[in-house]
Amino acid sequence: MRGHVRPPASREERSQALSKRRIILYPAATLRIHELSPEERAVYATLKPERLPQHVAIIMDGNGRWAGNRSLKRFLGHRQGAKSAQMVIDTASQIGLPWLTLYAFSLENNLRRPKSEVNFLMRLLRSYLESNIDRMMSNNVRIRYIGRTDELPIEVQNTMRYAEDTTARNTGTNVTLALNYGGRSELVDAFRSLATEMKHKHLSADQITEEDINRHLYTAHIPDPDLLIRTSGEMRISNFLMWQIAYSEIFFTERLWPDFRGIHLLEAIAAFQRRERRFGGLGERGETSDEAEQVKIAAR
Ligand code: FPP
Repeated sequence: MRGHVRPPASREERSQALSKRRIILYPAATLRIHELSPEERAVYATLKPERLPQHVAIIMDGNGRWAGNRSLKRFLGHRQGAKSAQMVIDTASQIGLPWLTLYAFSLENNLRRPKSEVNFLMRLLRSYLESNIDRMMSNNVRIRYIGRTDELPIEVQNTMRYAEDTTARNTGTNVTLALNYGGRSELVDAFRSLATEMKHKHLSADQITEEDINRHLYTAHIPDPDLLIRTSGEMRISNFLMWQIAYSEIFFTERLWPDFRGIHLLEAIAAFQRRERRFGGLGERGETSDEAEQVKIAAR
């Protein structure tokens, strides 16, 4: 139960919690399959709608290389990347994906990129949000954010709030932009906030449960990602949703983000559906155990 700190869970309770994470179904947004292109529809036809992931998270990487390959300035890669983001959001809303999280700007990007590039990304974010509001409304998309967004320039925060408020009553795909986000700093923020709560409630450290930590993450309202996609051939997590991806399937693609389209999201979902998720158990291929035989073998 959310809302208070409980005593540590038993083995059975923890196992049940993992399985529950597997079967919780969030209401699918209204499907608009007829809006998919013929190529997308062909891939969609291979999917099992009842096994659609509830939450897809994407590390959008490769904007700079995309631009470099064309002898263009890096900012043009980011501009093209913003177009990819919109097209992927369109497809996600057409197939009724409940949750989509996009890593748009990390804490490290903020600290380590030249000021001119950071300023460009901030301007791009504002113009992206302003120019896509109508599209989000007609696609029934709701937009929210995770990260230390209070450290972003105030005019960016104002535009973010405007987009969030305007789309707040939409019931389709929930899009979360990770902005000035870092997985470790999210955990630091969560532990600080949990420690404050525990102090107020006079609770001791051995009462902390996984659920308490979940409840203090930026993503408390979001199911854990079923599928994490990273573009551009890099095989890293880059400080993204460190806690939440514990059991996510990870899909790496060589494709650079500005070349990523809705059809590639559908292909990643098809690959996801071909995998067997086991959550640390044995899955469908697990043997039924003969305990007596196992005791004998272990004793040899
Ligand atoms: C990685 O490319 C991408 C980013 C640092 C930012 C992601 C931003 C966008 C996709 C555009 C803005 C999005 C929205 C939703 C407004 P990189 O620069 O690290 O590429 P590289 O590794 O090839 O240099």
